[in-house]
Amino acid sequence: MPFSLALALLAAQPVVDAPPEDPAAVDWEKEFGIEKKVRDPVTGEFPVDPYAQDPANAGARPFAGDGMARAFGGQDGIRSIVDRLVDLNVKDPRIADIFRNQDTVRLRRTLFEQICFIVGAGCSYTGRDMKSSHKDLGTTRADLNALVENLQQAMREHKVPFAAQNRLLSRLAPMDKDVVER
Ligand code: HEM
Repeated sequence: MPFSLALALLAAQPVVDAPPEDPAAVDWEKEFGIEKKVRDPVTGEFPVDPYAQDPANAGARPFAGDGMARAFGGQDGIRSIVDRLVDLNVKDPRIADIFRNQDTVRLRRTLFEQICFIVGAGCSYTGRDMKSSHKDLGTTRADLNALVENLQQAMREHKVPFAAQNRLLSRLAPMDKDVVER
């Protein structure tokens, strides 16, 4: 077929639009280059960006002796208090939004380690420092007050003596400058 005829036939082809794409069939995360995070099959945690592990990341030095650890019911008591604290936070209408879509599996572990380390109940802290873990959460002082109230409730329910509650809170108080953003 002469070249000019082929060109003429090609030009005569009707222009067919591509079939409209079904939005539900599009992998939007891929389209926007969003990396899918997958929970570790063993720990159940999502991966985090690499950071240097250091017990100093806990943001407070530990209490000496075993008085505080006993007041908190040892590691079992601390785990139970932390679980209660996280449960209260995620359903507290004042701060629930901040915890939505966060890795509460990791949070339960790292918060447990942090409090266990600070009260001297025999743990090391392997989490991130307070400034980087709260970066861009937009947390306010009112949010911090709400979280402290929830911690007080959890400690009260677990019969932690009032003096021991306040000793822990006084070690956490200086972290406000790192966790409150506005
Ligand atoms: C002195 C007070 C606080 C302490 C001791 C504390 C402790 C921690 C610890 C240990 C972590 C995990 C670090 C890691 O993943 O390596 C964390 C993360 C987090 N905290 Fe706090 N926190 C405090 C205040 C707050 C407040 C006031 C809020 C909001 C109401 C908050 C919301 C969060 C959230 C959403 C995460 C997860 C962030 C992420 O995984 O990227 N925290 N916090």
